[in-house]
Amino acid sequence: MPAKIVTLTLNPALDKSTAIGHLVPEQKLRCSPMRLDAGGGGINVSKAIKRLGGQGVAVFPAGGFNGKMLCGLLEKGAIDFKCLEVPGETRENISVLETASNAQYRFTLPGLQITENQADECLALIKAIGPEYLVASGSLPPGLPETYFEKVAVFAKKIGARFILDTSGEALQAAADEGLYLLKPNLSELSALVGVEKLEMNQVDDAALKIIQQGKCAVVVVSLGPQGALLVTKDGFEHIPAPTVKKQSTVGAGDSMVAGMVWALSEGKNFKEMAQIGVACGTAATMNQGTELFHDADVWKLLNWLQQYGDRYRLRDF
Ligand SMILES: Nc1ncnc2c1ncn2[C@@H]1O[C@H](COP(=O)(O)OP(=O)(O)OP(=O)(O)O)[C@@H](O)[C@H]1O
Ligand SMILES: [Mg+2]
Repeated sequence: MPAKIVTLTLNPALDKSTAIGHLVPEQKLRCSPMRLDAGGGGINVSKAIKRLGGQGVAVFPAGGFNGKMLCGLLEKGAIDFKCLEVPGETRENISVLETASNAQYRFTLPGLQITENQADECLALIKAIGPEYLVASGSLPPGLPETYFEKVAVFAKKIGARFILDTSGEALQAAADEGLYLLKPNLSELSALVGVEKLEMNQVDDAALKIIQQGKCAVVVVSLGPQGALLVTKDGFEHIPAPTVKKQSTVGAGDSMVAGMVWALSEGKNFKEMAQIGVACGTAATMNQGTELFHDADVWKLLNWLQQYGDRYRLRDF
C-alpha cells in the first residue's frame, strides 16, 4: 500500500541536547551526557505520526557526517525516510537546559545551503511515493528563494496531494497566495498573513475566515498556545480548549499538533476531531522535557477529556 503521508523537511538538523545546573560565563561547565535527535519540522512531524500508529515517509536533503547520523537515528527509530544526499554538512542545533531555573537555551545554527535543483529532486522523490497528504514544516534553508513553498503548493496540486504547511514569514505568505489545504498558523503568523501587527483574540475568527474566503486554504487551525486552538472552515468556527497540564517544555508542540491533525485526516476523522487530536498532541508534547515529543498514552487521555468536557471550557468571546 502506498504511504499516505509524506513530510518534507528542507532544513533538517541534528538536534543535540544537554543539561547543566547553572549556566555561567567563563567557567568550564560540566554538562550531562549529550542526547541526539533527528530534527527539523517535517522530521518531527513524521516521528510524531509514527507514535500515533500512523505511517509516513520523511523526505529531506542531508549531507556529511551529521547527515549520516540523522539518517541513522531515523533508522533506529524505524521511521521511513528518503534522503537526498547533498554536498556539505547538515547543521546541528544545540539546546541546553539550565536545571536550576528550568530555562531552555536553544542555539539554532544556519542551515545547510541547498540549490533549487536539489530541492526539486526532493519533490521528485515525493512524486515517486505518491502521497495523499504532503506536510511541509519548518524554515527554508539558505539557497532557496522565499517563494519555494509556492512551488511546492503547485506541485502538490499537480500530484493530487493535500498540502499542509507550517512555516512563517514570506515563505508562508507566498504559498498561501497559491492556495493549499490546511494552515496551522499561531497568532503572530496569522497576524502577518493578514497584514496586521497583532490580532486581538476577538479578531482571530474573522482573520482566518478572510484567508479561506480569499481561496488561500480550505481549513485553518489557529494554535493559541495554552488556550488551545480555533478551528475555522467556510462554515464557521469553533474553539478547542487546551487541557490544563503540568507544562515542562513547549518545544515541539507545534509539530506535534500538525502531526496529530494530519494523522486524524488520514484516518478519515472530521475537522472537529482533527482539531481535538491536534490540541491533544500539542498539549501532550508540553508534558515532556526538551525536544521529546509526546507519549501516546497522554494523547489519548487528553483527547478523552476534550471529547467529554471540552465544550464546557470553550471560549465564546471570539
Ligand atoms: N502552555 C501550554 N499548555 C497547554 N497546551 C499548550 C501550551 N503551549 C502549547 N500547547 C499546545 O500546543 C499547541 C501548539 O502550540 P502553539 O500555539 O504554541 O504553537 P506554535 O507557536 O506553532 O509552537 P512551535 O513553537 O512549536 O512552533 C496548542 O494549540 C496547544 O494545544
Ligand atoms: Mg509553529
